[in-house]
Amino acid sequence: MWWASPALASPELLGLLDETERARHSRFRRSDDRDRYAVAHALARLLCAHAAGCDPREVVFHRRCGHCTRPEPHGKPHPGGPAAGWEISITHSGDRVGVALTRGLPVGLDVEGITDRDLDGLASYALTAREHAAWRALDAADRAAGFFTYWARKEALLKATGQGLAGGLTSVEVSPPDAAAALLAWHGPEAPTQVWLCDLDAGADYRAALAVVSARPVTVAVHDASVLLNQSRQMFDSGSALLPNPR
Ligand SMILES: CC(C)(COP(=O)(O)OP(=O)(O)OC[C@H]1O[C@@H](n2cnc3c(N)ncnc32)[C@H](O)[C@@H]1OP(=O)(O)O)[C@@H](O)C(=O)NCCC(=O)NCCS
Ligand SMILES: [Zn+2]
Repeated sequence: MWWASPALASPELLGLLDETERARHSRFRRSDDRDRYAVAHALARLLCAHAAGCDPREVVFHRRCGHCTRPEPHGKPHPGGPAAGWEISITHSGDRVGVALTRGLPVGLDVEGITDRDLDGLASYALTAREHAAWRALDAADRAAGFFTYWARKEALLKATGQGLAGGLTSVEVSPPDAAAALLAWHGPEAPTQVWLCDLDAGADYRAALAVVSARPVTVAVHDASVLLNQSRQMFDSGSALLPNPR
């Protein structure tokens, strides 16, 4: 998986996106939302292109939603075209943009900025009875970070299967924040039988988690995408057809 900063957004990176992505980008009212979106989608394209050995602009993202019939494309993006067979997950919050890439295994990545706004309300909405009791037992000073550890773990799992929040945060039960990340229970017809989950370090003000639908343990390589994004910007600016190495 790769971390990037929205500060790396540039017109050159926008040139990597397709028409649908550029239209979505231009609909964001806030410039920080535009920057997070541009960096996330340029990075996702670069990673898929490198994996598939193609130009980033040839990568297609198919978005499917199994929950509603809204006409515009939404839901989890699945790489297609030359990048078919690869799986990605995108997340963005505050100063963090993350993209995870796997070969064939459904993956979910989530990063959340820690805030103490309406924690009690959010906890009642998102936590199961067992999680809620463990969360209330935390020292008051640890509750904000603890809540977002829960949220990131649960949402990473729901993003791996593509259910997203429509799957229901309380359908998934995970270990308490002071214990290693683990799935304890998953209710519902779309629950995978075997899944792998870990926390990621996204800095003191954030909590992040990665889930992979896999029967076997997963090895995660964490990269900083800034060199890749800067090199790509220069290369595409100069018309070079070569792709920089993402590592
Ligand atoms: C999208 C969602 C899974 C993640 O939300 P979040 O924590 O606010 O945002 P993140 O930055 O972590 O993740 C957003 C990314 O997840 C991906 N995503 C969107 N839907 C997804 C899904 N169902 N499963 C997995 N990933 C999804 C997208 O790549 C999106 O980024 P993009 O729009 O720039 O491409 C969650 O908000 C959700 O499920 N929303 C849908 C609720 C809804 O509107 N339902 C009605 C229509 S179905
Ligand atoms: Zn939908």
